[in-house]
Amino acid sequence: MNSKNQTRAHWEKVYAEKSWGQVSWHQKSPEPSITWIHALALAKDAHILDMGCGESYLIDALLQKGYTHISALDIAQEALDKAQKRQASPSVNYLCADAASLPNLPPVDVWHDRAVFHFLTHEKEQHAYLSSLKQSLKPKGYLLLATFAPDGPLKCSGLEICQYSTQDMQSFLGTEFALLKEERIDHTTPSGSVQKFNYALFQFLPK
Ligand SMILES: C[S@@+](CC[C@H](N)C(=O)[O-])C[C@H]1O[C@@H](n2cnc3c(N)ncnc32)[C@H](O)[C@@H]1O
Repeated sequence: MNSKNQTRAHWEKVYAEKSWGQVSWHQKSPEPSITWIHALALAKDAHILDMGCGESYLIDALLQKGYTHISALDIAQEALDKAQKRQASPSVNYLCADAASLPNLPPVDVWHDRAVFHFLTHEKEQHAYLSSLKQSLKPKGYLLLATFAPDGPLKCSGLEICQYSTQDMQSFLGTEFALLKEERIDHTTPSGSVQKFNYALFQFLPK
């Protein structure tokens, strides 16, 4: 099995074997993501992409706020099936794809990624992600990126991750991404341990 198929198989197994409340990244309420996105005061038909959505309640929260153009993308079809069963709305387009080799996406106003990009540990994958991001994000569009912080865990779901400070994110993204907001967040897992996250909001201002 090549590494891409191994990644997919890993996540399919996770979602087949564990319930949503059991996974370490589970949040009852998708904060601060929903508050930050809603504060952008975008049109309700703005295209919001949740990259590596899993079974997150962000989709539910966006629908509750009246957003009508949402893409929910994950490498695991199992996660998408579960999310879709809970929330089968015509406003949500479910897409099974790999963040490191994305298909062309319709232009995006908000690209949300919580705990997905940090799994891309090879430079080639990270650059492929950045290239898709720049291709899909509209000029003046927003990137909300949340990763484990430098004093956070080194692994998630048994897989190695890359930790990022806001400065690390900025130097990877480049000067076309303007930092608007950042926050360190302590995430408490269902088993009670605390994980240090770094959340940052950027605006894409291509030259
Ligand atoms: C730690 S979970 C976070 C899920 C969700 N973003 C949240 O905050 O609840 C990581 C998610 O990323 C997905 N994922 C991992 N690698 C991926 C990849 N290369 N492309 C797309 N999704 C991926 C997994 O299937 C999983 O749903």
